[in-house]
Amino acid sequence: MTISTNAQNVMLDHSKAKVELYKRYLSIYLNILSKADFVSKVFLYDLFAGEGKYANNELGSPIEAMNSIKNHYFANGKKIKDIKFHINDSGISKIEPGKKKIDRIGELISEIFTPPNVKVVLTAFEYSDIYPEVEKEVRSLKAHEKALVFIDPFGYKEIKPIELRSLFLSKSVEILLFLPISFMHRFSEKALNDEDYTEGKALELFLRDLFMNKPPQITSVHKYIFDLKCQFQNFLGSKYVDSFSIQRDKSNVFSLFFLRIVNWDFKR
Ligand SMILES: C[S@@+](CC[C@H](N)C(=O)[O-])C[C@H]1O[C@@H](n2cnc3c(N)ncnc32)[C@H](O)[C@@H]1O
Repeated sequence: MTISTNAQNVMLDHSKAKVELYKRYLSIYLNILSKADFVSKVFLYDLFAGEGKYANNELGSPIEAMNSIKNHYFANGKKIKDIKFHINDSGISKIEPGKKKIDRIGELISEIFTPPNVKVVLTAFEYSDIYPEVEKEVRSLKAHEKALVFIDPFGYKEIKPIELRSLFLSKSVEILLFLPISFMHRFSEKALNDEDYTEGKALELFLRDLFMNKPPQITSVHKYIFDLKCQFQNFLGSKYVDSFSIQRDKSNVFSLFFLRIVNWDFKR
């Protein structure tokens, strides 16, 4: 069987860097929460979870997250907060044609030690179908429950800033959102100004939502990222928004946005 080497089945360096950032963030998150006595349960979501393991044997986000959970459990005296880890991907594997990506993930996870109070839920829904469920669950979190939502689509078409904002009604949630900045930057002006550019409709809606009809700064990719960050702050009503840029080459910059509504001060 011949497997083509594209970013969907071979993990490229920028994806590796992204997963490394997520994994480190999750380790720190679990560590901090383990010290907060009032936190009783943690909800983790990986809503575009991928292949699990790439054709070049690199591990994707859900597997690295499970490794972080396992490592935290053993480093923390075999203790961990109750966790529900919801992993979702609607795709069919490019590496094992005919098999659902989520089934590959399930097989890989079954080989990793899972602490007894960690429950893994695997689903293969379209994001638009699973999002309302996630929103319902997150918005009904109690004060002693926390949630971390990792959103790593191939593009941004499914992502609606208004939906992200509605998750923040909970105050207990944080979101890690990965966006293909160069692509968005390149097509922003056309998407906002050319009515005949139908392929740009999703980008136009994303920008109109987020920028509340003001045009984004497009003089450079880095100004664009800064403007996105400021707009997330305005739109969510939070100063706790940050971004980390990953550059694959001159014309391919990506950004991981850290969106949070409250600071880590554990005020309830
Ligand atoms: C960038 S990849 C995720 C990579 C993954 N986080 C990793 O570290 O390996 C995006 C994934 O989203 C899935 N996907 C695309 N559109 C989707 C949708 N509408 N609903 C659910 N999953 C979707 C694809 O099958 C793909 O595996």
